[in-house]
Parts: sequence; C-alpha cells; structure tokens
Amino acid sequence: MATETTGTPEQARRTAAGSDSVSWWRGAVTYQLYIRSFADGNGDGLGDLAGIRSRLGYLAGLGVDAIWVNPWYPSPQADGGYDVADYRDIYPPFGSLDDAVALIEDAHRLGLRVLLDIVPNHTSDEHPWFVAALAAGPGSPQRARYLFRPGRGEDGSLPPNDWRAVFGGPAWDRVSEPDGSPGEWYLHLFDPKQPDLDWTNPQVREEFCDILRFWFDRGADGFRIDVAHGLVKQDGLPDLGTDTEHVLTPPDRTDHPHWDRPEVHDIYRQWRALADSYHPPRVFVAEAWVASPERLAAYLRPDELHTAFDFDFLRAPWSAPDLRRAAEASLEAHESVGAPVMWTLSNHDITRHVSRLGRAHIGGPVELFRKRSGPVDVELGRRRARALLLLELALPGGVYLYQGEELGLEEVQDLPEELLQDPTWERSGHTERGRDGCRVPLPWTTSGPSLGFGAAAPWLPQPQAWSQLSVAAQERDPSSMLNLYKQALGLRRRLPALGAGSGRDVTWLDLGDDVAGFSREPGFVCVVNTGSTPVPLPRGRLVLASNTAVRDQLPPDTAAWLTTS
Ligand code: GLC
Repeated sequence: MATETTGTPEQARRTAAGSDSVSWWRGAVTYQLYIRSFADGNGDGLGDLAGIRSRLGYLAGLGVDAIWVNPWYPSPQADGGYDVADYRDIYPPFGSLDDAVALIEDAHRLGLRVLLDIVPNHTSDEHPWFVAALAAGPGSPQRARYLFRPGRGEDGSLPPNDWRAVFGGPAWDRVSEPDGSPGEWYLHLFDPKQPDLDWTNPQVREEFCDILRFWFDRGADGFRIDVAHGLVKQDGLPDLGTDTEHVLTPPDRTDHPHWDRPEVHDIYRQWRALADSYHPPRVFVAEAWVASPERLAAYLRPDELHTAFDFDFLRAPWSAPDLRRAAEASLEAHESVGAPVMWTLSNHDITRHVSRLGRAHIGGPVELFRKRSGPVDVELGRRRARALLLLELALPGGVYLYQGEELGLEEVQDLPEELLQDPTWERSGHTERGRDGCRVPLPWTTSGPSLGFGAAAPWLPQPQAWSQLSVAAQERDPSSMLNLYKQALGLRRRLPALGAGSGRDVTWLDLGDDVAGFSREPGFVCVVNTGSTPVPLPRGRLVLASNTAVRDQLPPDTAAWLTTS
C-alpha cells in the first residue's frame, strides 16, 4: 500500500490524523449534495450535475474534504431517486454519464473525494428486473430476485404478513398476473414503487458487486449505503406482531424480522474485500438505523464497513449530560472495533437541526421525522446549531454536513400541499407532510427568481427571508453562520488535536450539569453551555466561539474552542 507515511513530521501527523490516501476517511468532513436542490446549471428549476460542477470551488473554499452525492441514477423519482431504474447511468435531467465522470475528475482536481449513494435494498418497479419479474409470472427465476409471495386467506386477497411500509400502509402490494388474474404479492418496505430485492439470491449479490466495480472504475472513492440494515429478511417472513410500526429505526429488539438481521454482515464482508482490492482502497459509510451503538459497531468490524452515520448523537436532546452521554457511548462502541465515529446533525430525511433545536419543549427524545409540530424559535435554533457544530467538529472522527446547514437554513414547514413530492404525504393519507421541508433549493444570491439557484423558478419555492441567508449575503458578514463554518473547518485542519481519533483521545471535564467539555492533546479544549446562565470559561486562549459575545464567560447556548499550549 503506497501511503504518505514516511518522511516529514507533517506527513507523519497527517497519517496519524487519517489524512493520507488510505485512511483519509477517519477524520474527513463530507458535504452531502442533494442534487435537485443544490444548484441548477441548465435552468429547468431542478438542480443537476452541471450545477454541482459550477460550485465545486465553493465547497473546496468551505473547507470540506469530500462530497457525498445523493442518487443520480435514472429513476421515475417516486422517492427522490431512491427508486433506481438503472444503476449504471445518470438521470437525464441531472446530466449524462460523461458529466458524472467529469464531476468526479473536477472534484479530485480540487482535492475533494467523491462518495456516491448505492441503493441495494430495493430497485424501482421500472427497473428491467422487476418488469421482467411481472411478465414472467409465479415461480420464475425473474421473480426470485424479489420477494414475491402468495397472499393469505382463501383467495389470497390478504397480504402475506403484517409488515408495514416506512412511508405508511402495508408493505405488500398485489400484482396482476400476465393473464390478468389477481396474483402474488411483492414486498416493499418503502413505497410500492420500490420493490425489495431478495438478497439470498446469488444473482442479486453478483449484480451489486458489479455495480460497485462500475463506479469504482470511474473514480468513485466510495459509497454511502442506503438502508444498510434492511437488506436481509428473516427466513419465512414471519409476522411482526404489531401493525403500528413503520419506522426506519428498529425498536429495541434483537430479533426483528426485517431490520438489522445478523445475516446482513456477510454481504458487507464481501463488499469490503472488493473495496480493498482497489488502490487506493474504496470506502463505505452505512445508513443503518439500529437499536444501539453496539449494534452499529457490529457493521464496522475490521473486515466489514469502514464507517456508519452516528444517529445517536443526532438524536440527543439539547442538554450537556445527554450530549456527552451520547458522544461517549458512540466513541466507546466504535473504539471496540477500531472504527471512527461519523458525527452528523442533519440529512435529507430529517427535520433540519436549526428547527429541531429551536423547539420550545426540547428536552425529551428528539423528533426527527416531523410527527411533532409546534412553534419553532429559529433564532434560538441557530444559536444552538452554531454551538453544536463546534462540539461536533471537535469530537474525534469524521463529520457529515448536509447542504444548507452552513447557511443555517431552517425546515420549511409551510410548503403548499399541492407541491409536496415526498411519497410520505400520499401514503400517510395526507397526515404526514414528509421530508420536502429540508429539501428546498439553496439560496445563493440575495435576489432573482430562485435566489441564484438557477435561471428558472425552483422545483420547491424558497422562503423570501432566505435572501438574507444566501451565500452572497453571508459571505459579506464576518459573523455569519457560513463564516463560522469556514473558520471552524479551517481550524479543524490546522489544529493538530482535531480530526481523526477515538474515545481514548478525549478527556471529559467536570464543569457542572449545564456544560459539556473535553480536552484533546495537544493543548485543545472544547466547551458548550446548554444551560440558561453564563458560566466561566476554562483557562486557555480562545480561538473560536460560536457567539461573538464570548470573552471570559460562556453565555447560554454557546460553545468555544480554546488552546492551552
Ligand atoms: C433512506 C434514504 C431515504 C429513502 C429511503 C428509501 O432512508 O435516505 O431518502 O427514502 O432510504 O430508499
């Protein structure tokens, strides 16, 4: 393995910090691109690859190490592209395969690694395999790539079991057989347009290894794995025993019939070997909603996946002891397998964290999926978001940022109903608005029909007030959220204590119930005050604070970084 491990002390430090070509991911900051909402290069109102390519300089300037691009494949877009019809091409409104390769090359020239998004749990119902499965009929090898089953009841008119779809309703739909008669049912843990694959079928396993190779050969540095905990279903597809559960997160049980099955690990061992066969090795990050940090760590054993999003820290309420507890538990579990934690606060599925943190009644379990409404104090949310960012960026490991969080964007809660596109809206019988509120196109400039997103009106309308949150407006304001991100990311690169590491690299400080704080060597301290009164700052030289009022006191909802050597 060629690394940059020999030579100067700086090279040695970069290697220890995980910034060499083999272990760069251990401390990387990765920026998530939700393509349709990032930048519109061709003026059709929808973000695209040309838009991303034109803004790569912005991302390099922000100071991130890598990008993760949400699914860009041909798709009927029944679920924002997580319904893939062809895994080896690009959705035409986003661009072409040539554009994709050029994007990867452009990013590499700027020193940015590129992670793609693989969707292995299900295909689109318009994928040629599913079309062939419908045409071929029961008992065919084509159907055996999916989970077709006869219905229950005398005439087979009841679903094969009681599983519920994440977007609402039963997880089964019945098909008409080629002769027009009512036929078998197929499983879809998400939308009916997302039939689940049968991962016990060797053809499925071979196909996905081939897809991984296809993109690795085109320069992709790795993949985010969609619903990594869902691929394998329990033999016999037994009933769940409850008809109310349709969430991504498994309840605290270890024998769930379709989430986090032990057999899933074998798939990832095979994927790891494949990724390791490349030079430099390619990497994975799992989206795995599992019951505990220990269950997550099982995906990160040395011969399995490299990393997984840490959803426990993101769920912690705004309270110093809870944040510390969540961080410590994750660090400890990850350390047991030698993997770095991947901290994150937002993504394209959950309520933007400015809005989560601005809820008056915060303190209980954090509601990520918008079931809870109620007033949001956006300014309070932004103050806390600034503080939480400094905490997150100071912890050992890597970080995933979601586009727009660097602008402090809030969840848009008043999108007109007729514009909602998330399948959750329809599938819940119009009781849950779904995830469009965190997918509103970014504001780049202070004026124009799309605030600089593109030449036409964007696919979802932006709040007028976002003009003042635009990149252009924030670049001019030294104390803006955007400038806080730039400063923090710059310091994170420069301060030797920060970046990759494990729980062993953190010493927690006892600063009272309202303050979470820790030191890292050499000579660094991070503190955050979640209480309602100012607290004294620990000794040290203040290098960055989330709030300009910090001198020798740390006000409520504020964090600071200090150096002590
Ligand atoms: C993941 C994606 C989400 C998608 C679902 C089904 O949770 O992040 O956007 O709807 O998987 O693919």
